[in-house]
Amino acid sequence: MSTRGADQSLLRTSGLTKHFGGLPALEGVGFSAERGQVTALIGPNGAGKTTFINCLTGILRPDRGSMVFDGRELSGLPPHRIARLGIARTFQNLRLFSGLSVLDNVLCGLSARAGDSYLEAFLRTPGLRHRERRLWLTALETLDVFGLADRASVPADALSYGEKKRLDLARAFVSSPKLVLLDEPVAGLNPDETDRVGALIRQMCRGGATLVLVEHDMDLVMSVSDQVVVLDGGRRIAAGSPEDVRCNPLVLEAYLGKISATA
Ligand SMILES: Nc1ncnc2c1ncn2[C@@H]1O[C@H](COP(=O)(O)OP(=O)(O)O)[C@@H](O)[C@H]1O
Ligand SMILES: [Mg+2]
Repeated sequence: MSTRGADQSLLRTSGLTKHFGGLPALEGVGFSAERGQVTALIGPNGAGKTTFINCLTGILRPDRGSMVFDGRELSGLPPHRIARLGIARTFQNLRLFSGLSVLDNVLCGLSARAGDSYLEAFLRTPGLRHRERRLWLTALETLDVFGLADRASVPADALSYGEKKRLDLARAFVSSPKLVLLDEPVAGLNPDETDRVGALIRQMCRGGATLVLVEHDMDLVMSVSDQVVVLDGGRRIAAGSPEDVRCNPLVLEAYLGKISATA
């Protein structure tokens, strides 16, 4: 059992606000992710989930609020600095380098945290060659964990959709980041592929990863999450254990309201 107190959250946002053309995508959102836990972020389409991830990774600049990660304020930092602090993500709409090999795509996930100097790269020093070999081995080991080792040399384009989703995961986890933000990792997957990704998420957690899981698949959310936070219209409407949130009338209304509105 962890002895860290609640103030030791790996990530804590407060009052996080982002408007697009006057319309609120996030409105004063408080959120925390505890070390070694899976915190799910759920809510109907348009609730602000991807906007939240884009703010945390520096792709979007919030209008107001704070985002403290591992004791550091993230606001104002560019994406590459945030990546170097140990935050990785996957993308709702896959963003792989389709012409590059599967292995090179995973190596890209490592370069975000490498810090090689231009001079070393120019001189091809033994130290650099040694590090490159280590990175290459790490990438291959990660592909093995994600069931893609035998696909390492094919272009990412040649993968099935399910394999592409796993490649996106492998690229996020390869650098052993402190925090991984998963944006709908099983969207569009068949039940077998979904189970496979669920098992991988559990495996990463047992290894000590801290995860924020944005997902619509409630079976997956309920089975892997320690905490669930619910957004609707950019506002946090509920937070708690999976069981608490599942029975919360506000949550049911947010989902059922959206279903009946689109039925
Ligand atoms: N780049 C953008 N420009 C304008 N509006 C955006 C942009 N990104 C998201 N939005 C709007 O912000 C709201 C939240 O979107 P999003 O964060 O993608 O929701 P979710 O991921 O929960 O489905 C939506 O109304 C969406 O149309
Ligand atoms: Mg989204």
